[in-house]
Order: sequence, then structure tokens, then C-alpha cells
Amino acid sequence: LSDTQRKIIEDSIRDIKDFPKPGIVFKDITTLLNNKEAYGVLMNHLYERYKEYDLDYIAGIDARGFIFGAALAQMLGLGFVPIRKQGKLPYTTISEKYALEYGVDEIEVHIDAFGEKKGARVLVIDDLIATGGTANAAATLVNQTGAECVECCFVIGLTFLDGIEKLKEKTKVYSLIEV
Ligand code: PRP
Ligand code: ADE
Repeated sequence: LSDTQRKIIEDSIRDIKDFPKPGIVFKDITTLLNNKEAYGVLMNHLYERYKEYDLDYIAGIDARGFIFGAALAQMLGLGFVPIRKQGKLPYTTISEKYALEYGVDEIEVHIDAFGEKKGARVLVIDDLIATGGTANAAATLVNQTGAECVECCFVIGLTFLDGIEKLKEKTKVYSLIEV
């Protein structure tokens, strides 16, 4: 990613102060998504990075991880797996609770989402890592199904929290824009 390309992506992300709670600076990616240049530069970069990874599936985290994950899966010719908030998936699931920057939550995945064979190579993707609680739970779920979380990928990494460092104890981590 060139400096110019990085700046196009960075400049397209909007900061919203005190959302959803006082003290939080919310990274708004809707202004990246509706900017065809920024969205294109980002997706092409992710395609170039991950085409060499020999992946079997892309798993996106509810909800913003779906947008990047589903697009990337199509570009790479791979299947997409949604890791969803509790109570949304209809078939048998495994679930994991975690703490958020602003609350508690639970995510789950279909038990058979990564196919019959063990050891499917999975990339987990989300828009942002803050405390790392969500991504940590997602990587745990992927590994519990018998697949392998090869890397967790984020468009934005908040470095003033130690989420990235903690997640690195479990899996490889890639975050494009560190704030
Ligand atoms: C946000 C974000 C990540 C998570 C990061 O999602 O999209 O999934 O928080 O926080 P963490 O690193 O502290 O776990 P949120 O739970 O707000 O859900 P949404 O995508 O449905 O808005
Ligand atoms: N999820 C957790 N923290 C966030 C933030 N500061 N901006 C956007 N999404 C988030």
C-alpha cells in the first residue's frame, strides 16, 4: 500500500465524538464505503495480500465485518462465513461471550460452517479492533469448529488499547490503519 493509497483510505474514515457513549470516538466507515475510490483501493489491497495465503474461507464478524469479508471472499473465489451476534443463526451453533469497549456481547458460528474436513484455513475479518474482545472470541470459535484461524484482519486498529498485542498471542494480526 503506497502512502497515497493509505491516505485515501484514512481520509475517507470519519470520526464521530461521543458515539454511542460519551468519551468514545467512533470510527465511521460508512464514508469509506460510499467512496468508490477508497473502497476500491482498500479491497484491491486486501485481494493482493490474501491471494497468496491459500485460504479456504473468509469469516466476517457481525455486522461491519460482513461488508469487507463478503466482498473479499468473492474477489478471492472463496466461501464466506458469518460470525453473528447471539440468537441470529438458525442451525446448531457454538458461542463465545466477550467484553466490548462499550458493553458485553456474545457471538456464534454454525458448527459446520467450515466444511466437513478439519483444518480449513480461515481468515477472520472485521472493520476495527478496539479491546480485541470480539476478534479473540471469533478466533476461538473458528478454532473450536476444527478449522484454523490463520490471521485476523482489520481495516482500523485502535492502538491505545492493547487489543492487537493481546490477540497476537493467539493468532497473526494485520491492521491497515493504526490510530
Ligand atoms: C464493533 C466493531 C468490532 C468490535 C470491536 O462492533 O465492528 O466488531 O466492535 O471492538 P473490540 O475490539 O473491543 O471487541 P459492534 O460490537 O459495535 O457491532 P456492530 O458491527 O454490529 O455495530
Ligand atoms: N467498536 C469498538 N470501538 C469502536 C470505535 N471507537 N469506533 C467504531 N467501532 C468501534
